[in-house]
Amino acid sequence: MGNGPASAVTRPAPVAPARNPGAPANPGVSIPLKAPYPLRPVGVLPPPLSEGERRPALAPKKRDICALVLAAGLGKRMHSKTSKLVHRVAGRPMVRHVVEAAKAAGMARTIVVIGSQADEVRSAVGDGDKRIAFAYQKDQLGTGDAVLSAERQLAGHQGDILILNGDLPALRPETLRAFVEFHRASGAPLSLLTTVVSDPRGYGRVIRNYSGDVSRIVEEADATPEERATQEINCGIYCVDAQSLCRPLKRATRDNAQGEIYLTDLIEILRRDGRKVAAYRHSDPTEVLGVNDRRELAAAGRALYRRKADELMTSGVTLLDPETTYIDADVTVGRDTVIEPGVMLLGRTEIGEEARIGAGCRIVDSKVADGTSILPYCVIASSQIGRSCRVGPFAHLRPETTLEEEARVGNFVETKKARLGRGSKANHLTYLGDADIGKDVNIGAGTITCNFDGTTKHRTVIEDEVFIGSDTQLVAPVRVRKGAFIGAGSTITKDVPSHALAIARGKQVIKENWAKRFGPAAQRPKGGSGSKK
Ligand code: UD1
Ligand code: CA
Repeated sequence: MGNGPASAVTRPAPVAPARNPGAPANPGVSIPLKAPYPLRPVGVLPPPLSEGERRPALAPKKRDICALVLAAGLGKRMHSKTSKLVHRVAGRPMVRHVVEAAKAAGMARTIVVIGSQADEVRSAVGDGDKRIAFAYQKDQLGTGDAVLSAERQLAGHQGDILILNGDLPALRPETLRAFVEFHRASGAPLSLLTTVVSDPRGYGRVIRNYSGDVSRIVEEADATPEERATQEINCGIYCVDAQSLCRPLKRATRDNAQGEIYLTDLIEILRRDGRKVAAYRHSDPTEVLGVNDRRELAAAGRALYRRKADELMTSGVTLLDPETTYIDADVTVGRDTVIEPGVMLLGRTEIGEEARIGAGCRIVDSKVADGTSILPYCVIASSQIGRSCRVGPFAHLRPETTLEEEARVGNFVETKKARLGRGSKANHLTYLGDADIGKDVNIGAGTITCNFDGTTKHRTVIEDEVFIGSDTQLVAPVRVRKGAFIGAGSTITKDVPSHALAIARGKQVIKENWAKRFGPAAQRPKGGSGSKK
């Protein structure tokens, strides 16, 4: 098997008789349910990775290699205003997953082709990294044209180019490394990565000749019914020798159903020139299926959440139910932390060791230190929670909340731009906004910092060891100094000195026997509390 002569490429692709005797009769053509050639990689070296298997990093600088990520298309099938490539999967824009995988696979340089919504895609990739360059595709004339738009950036590059569609969020660096190794061992100027799926709809089909060599790729729109029945698909992952890319690709025409310049035509062009094309068949389709619509977006998200859950469990985190746990790609969780069902840990959240995250919590861009318990159903955003704190159930920590160690925030407490010092407690039904609270402070149930006067926000400062009685309103700006006491039910509008008691509420009045006028409760007229005599 291997480098067949150009004459071996015949059109149309040979079709073997149907092997499935139960298949519906179709006079004239017989559509094979499986590809009519043996399903094994060409030039086997190395075999596809099995689950969890790892390969060593690429041999240092054996041959120069860079990555080219195609990210200029809009992605019509998403029916979205924004580029498909900035849609988030497990918390990261789709295209960033691809760029990160390329980087982690050892690419010294990555060129990203942008075009549709270029600014948005560029900032989703992030342009602070010197190893990333951008090329601009003016009109979206197809994947082949996208590659050619990067010709200037690729000029002078001698080695291989790893070309990746930008819509492959589940791609793993290990797979890219194995593919590049395979390509180098194959000696072919071009290798492509394929996979076999039961439903190949929407993807380019890999057409092989009888000896099993790839002869071309046919897009769904251009395929005959026989070709469509092929279940081996092109994944949009190629490794090409720089010398065999732009020049031959310029011979591709727009003479196809979509009127585009297809990168995939390069395979047939090289084959017709008598060159070899190697194919690496990957065993896990979920990793290499391009995302084209929202259903595939959800499937990719699920695959990444599942993978993250596996990684965390491997590293010593307990997930009570990985199937209902959503942990974004960039989140970190320390050892011996327990995560209950229905939890979402999003963005750049960091959870320490021996913490516990209760059922139904949603935590975004926040830090939770070691040994802290977040009880069920808390919503936490952009906040910092220290060691050994206890939060919830049903607490809402809004941005810029800081809880220092051993602080406690209980049920139905809302905080925003608030600091609670070490060991301070706000256990019930409270709003703390624009508040700076010292250590060992006790905030009684129903306390409200009245921080907004209709135009401006003002701060409340509560110093160490203060006791705030239940149902207190603190009308900001106001300061309660160290060790002071506030009587329950007070509306505090003026600063309270250290160690003082402040009470600001209506005096209690007692009228002896007053209620007897109404007689025993059982004889009072029914029909509501409003009746008075
Ligand atoms: C492409 C392949 C198909 C393969 C599939 C795998 C071609 C012609 N077809 O089809 O064989 O099975 O990927 O998922 O290559 N892009 C540009 N500029 C353009 C057009 C596309 O940069 O003018 C980018 C897109 O942003 C995307 C990638 O190229 O990231 C692939 O484009 P897409 O339209 O998704 O190609 P498919 O039709 O899925
Ligand atoms: Ca695609």
